[in-house]
Amino acid sequence: MQIRTEIFKDAAGIRLVHQAAFGQRTEADLVEALREDEASLPHYSRVAVTDKGEIVGHVLLSRIYIEDIPSLALAPVGVKPHWQRKGIGSELIRQVIEEAREAGESHIVVLGHDSYYPQFGFERAVDYGIEAPFPVPVDFFLIMPLERQALKGIRGIVRYSKPFSTV
Ligand SMILES: CC(C)(COP(=O)(O)OP(=O)(O)OC[C@H]1O[C@@H](n2cnc3c(N)ncnc32)[C@H](O)[C@@H]1OP(=O)(O)O)[C@@H](O)C(=O)NCCC(=O)NCCS
Repeated sequence: MQIRTEIFKDAAGIRLVHQAAFGQRTEADLVEALREDEASLPHYSRVAVTDKGEIVGHVLLSRIYIEDIPSLALAPVGVKPHWQRKGIGSELIRQVIEEAREAGESHIVVLGHDSYYPQFGFERAVDYGIEAPFPVPVDFFLIMPLERQALKGIRGIVRYSKPFSTV
């Protein structure tokens, strides 16, 4: 199993990952809509590839804002069902977080399960005074500062890029 940056020819395999992981087309459509959306750049995108060349996992970070402060959304992350619970999702997430930190990004927002994401450093966004632009349980709307003081003085509503509201 290799985890690496997405390349052009991975697109079809990434689509299959999300369709299988989520059992619907929405997340695969979101990835494709984000690829077309310059306002959501930069993207940090990594895939998990088997020895036979099959893409079995994918994670994407893309540009969003907290009020007018640049941040990143972690969405989607998926692993094909047969390959789940082997540590692939966690490794994809850890690597993409590290890539974003090295690129000088400041924080990452995720709408996700509070039993899964805290292990990577995600905390409740509401505790920083940061809120989702839609109704969501506060325990599931999470943020991770990439440096110690990265969220100092930042509060407000998260603004997602257009593809999140159109797919
Ligand atoms: C969530 C997901 C990406 C995790 O990938 P993975 O490779 O299975 O994860 P790992 O093997 O690194 O970690 C497994 C742990 O994650 C947790 N976990 C996995 N899926 C979970 C889920 N849907 N909800 C809560 N926790 C979950 C479990 O605690 C599991 O630990 P356990 O096996 O000891 O119970 C994968 O399960 C998946 O694609 N799920 C469907 C799509 C999805 O829900 N994506 C996340 C929302 S964007």
